[in-house]
Amino acid sequence: MNAEELEAELTPEEKASLTAGGDVWRLPPIERLGIGRLKMSDGPSGVRGGQFGTRRSLSFPCGMAAGSTWDLDLIRRYGEAVADEAISKGVHLVLGPTVCIPRTPLGGRTFESFAEDPYLSARVTAAYVAAVQAGGVGCCVKHFACNDQEHERMTISAEVDERTLREVHLPSFEAAVVEAGAWAVMSAYNRLNGTFCGEHPELLGGILKDEWGFDGVVVSDWFGTHSTVEASTAGLDIEMPGPPQYLGPNLAEAVKQGSVDTGVVDEHASRIARLMERTGLLAGRVVDDEREDDDPQRRALARELAAAGTVLLRNDGLLPLAGDGLRRVAVIGPNARALQTGGGGSSVVVPFRHQDLVDELRDRLPGVEVVHEEGCRLTKDGTLPTLDMRLIEGGFRTEYWPNTTHEGEPLAAEALGRAEYIALGDPAPGVGIDNFSLRSTTTFRPDTDGTWTLGLASVGPSRLLLDGEVVIDNTRPERAKSFFGMGSTTVTAEVELSAGTAHELSVELTSSPAPVNGFRVDADRPAVPDALGRAVAAARDADAVVLVVGSNPHWETEGVDRKGLALVGEQAELVRAVVAANPHTAVVVNAGAPVDVAPAEGAASLMMLWYPGEEGPAALAEMLVGTAEPSGRLPITFPHRIDDVASHTDPTWYPGAGGKVRYGEGVFVGYRHFDANGVEPAFAFGHGTGYSTFDIGDLRVDGSGTDRTVALRVTNTGERRGAEVVQVYVAAAGTDAPAGIDRPAKELKGFAKVVLDPGESTDVRVALDHRSFARWDVDSHDWVADSGTYDVLVGVSSRDIRQQTSITA
Ligand code: BGC
Repeated sequence: MNAEELEAELTPEEKASLTAGGDVWRLPPIERLGIGRLKMSDGPSGVRGGQFGTRRSLSFPCGMAAGSTWDLDLIRRYGEAVADEAISKGVHLVLGPTVCIPRTPLGGRTFESFAEDPYLSARVTAAYVAAVQAGGVGCCVKHFACNDQEHERMTISAEVDERTLREVHLPSFEAAVVEAGAWAVMSAYNRLNGTFCGEHPELLGGILKDEWGFDGVVVSDWFGTHSTVEASTAGLDIEMPGPPQYLGPNLAEAVKQGSVDTGVVDEHASRIARLMERTGLLAGRVVDDEREDDDPQRRALARELAAAGTVLLRNDGLLPLAGDGLRRVAVIGPNARALQTGGGGSSVVVPFRHQDLVDELRDRLPGVEVVHEEGCRLTKDGTLPTLDMRLIEGGFRTEYWPNTTHEGEPLAAEALGRAEYIALGDPAPGVGIDNFSLRSTTTFRPDTDGTWTLGLASVGPSRLLLDGEVVIDNTRPERAKSFFGMGSTTVTAEVELSAGTAHELSVELTSSPAPVNGFRVDADRPAVPDALGRAVAAARDADAVVLVVGSNPHWETEGVDRKGLALVGEQAELVRAVVAANPHTAVVVNAGAPVDVAPAEGAASLMMLWYPGEEGPAALAEMLVGTAEPSGRLPITFPHRIDDVASHTDPTWYPGAGGKVRYGEGVFVGYRHFDANGVEPAFAFGHGTGYSTFDIGDLRVDGSGTDRTVALRVTNTGERRGAEVVQVYVAAAGTDAPAGIDRPAKELKGFAKVVLDPGESTDVRVALDHRSFARWDVDSHDWVADSGTYDVLVGVSSRDIRQQTSITA
């Protein structure tokens, strides 16, 4: 059956039923016609599958790391791998990529986005979406539009003028739709100029569907639908999750009442049928069983991406670590052994592996002593770290009963891949979310002697047993913020444990009448007396130091913005002390967005690793020893101070006031603001160094009018094979733009990543077109390239221009 045949067969009620989720992740089936359930899953850095915490899947680098690669061929391979991951989980539509433009580095989801620059973000978006979809899996590009902060994310109105919207905040979505033919778009939670994005006629109907010719479906963000008539007629095709509150049967009723036209539902159904055909659902691609495909090729790609997305901000000859003098390396920092693979929130996937940087480095530095010190801990507001999966054997073996008393035979069993389990929807076939109990057991082998603090939080009543003894009784849970506000406080207990001794650890959980259920087991290692002093001593005694600091999913997550740029906890003090003790230090920042790197001032090397996915530790070890090159370039400006960022000029611009946030900086987002106001960044947009050096010469711009080709020659002048990213910026300084229209000093309009051997040269050609020179004109509502002189600037960052010329267009 194809889409048209399906449409012809569907009754009006069946058509309406497809406009809302049947459960948390799937549309309802049409059993009469043998049509299965269309399944969606997050996204964006890997594909999780139906539940949080159960099936493992490959954890890829975060969006900022992908944006840092500036390598569209690699991004295409990434998209292909994501399609394969989705197929292994029976997923038809991946909820990603996240393509909003971060106006502030403090946004809780900045790590998910690709870039502060609309051109770079649009290029990465188009390459990724096209590749995922070529694999037969849809992308639901999110969050449309201006979901740029977590503060009041469900309600805030982004107040944005037309030109800013078109030039900065929409191009990534436009490229996804017009160039890559995206099959779905997710409407954002927030309002845009007063109207919820999920019921915004101009945004969904006008721009997306009419102007861009979008033929896919608009899916609401989860619980982000607010009406039946307004949403449906504005162009929202699917309300998620189910059970439906506004669309689905409510829409059928609205049609009966005459408040929605039948044609509106036909249109939704036609789009949904097309999605079902595109994703193979109509041809029978329905797999309820989620596979764990631990594929070596995809794993190798994740490692390649992690290195290609790491930005070497500074390197005074320390890296790659080598040489006969290297006898002892100290690996220090809270994120060294507990390297964070991803940020928090809906993007979390359960990785296949938990690599350890110390082991990875030892393997690659035979004969060198590698020692470790934590230096400090990264705990937030008294929160404990979730139990480190490297300390447990065989996952959490979990049995489910279809009653709240653990009575009779369990109906289902599986192994959970992490110590945080969240059930959104029924935990297993035949086991209802509101009437079940589970027992989850694992073997826990502590790696340190002393007093451990264990913690347990859950939605329903729960207990934690150690070797059969109840150590935590949470059977009368006290409400707190965990589990989307439905969970309990974390109840703790201190236990004396010895390193290397195996213990049986079990959790017993009983469901409570909530749409979400779950538990989380925390375990904090014994406090290390004088952790900072020990780290300093280790640094002093080492020939080189690798200091890994940063953030984690408690601090950097969907739902909350960060409070500031400073490294959290005692990390700034740790960095200063270690660098003072031994300047032969490579500071590695393992976080999803810019942080204040001033404490690393005297360190020989500084690297932005981002959240690199599960192959991060191996990739980092390879970069440290030089078998891989960190070849990323910054997709976002690193400011010295948060006040240097445009949106922080005024509190009504960020975080907003009275339910509104005014995009007062207009088109001057990111480096455009730093350029316009002469503000010095800590590290500029586009910056990054590597293990070789390059020369850029022979700049020529061919063609006429706005149809141009930039040609230049790049030579590797160093002693190693290495990568360079050539960046082409256009400045509209000498044009006859109407008075009152400020154009940025320069804007990125092209780039090319080249990899060359020592002494090798190559000719690079970058195409420019009308859009490279144009601005959005609010009178004609169209792109206009003013006539006059434009400068074409070629460089290796927005602040390091190596060649330039002028052309007349
Ligand atoms: C997020 C979306 C996500 C959805 C489903 C929402 O909270 O904003 O990005 O796709 O949940 O997990």
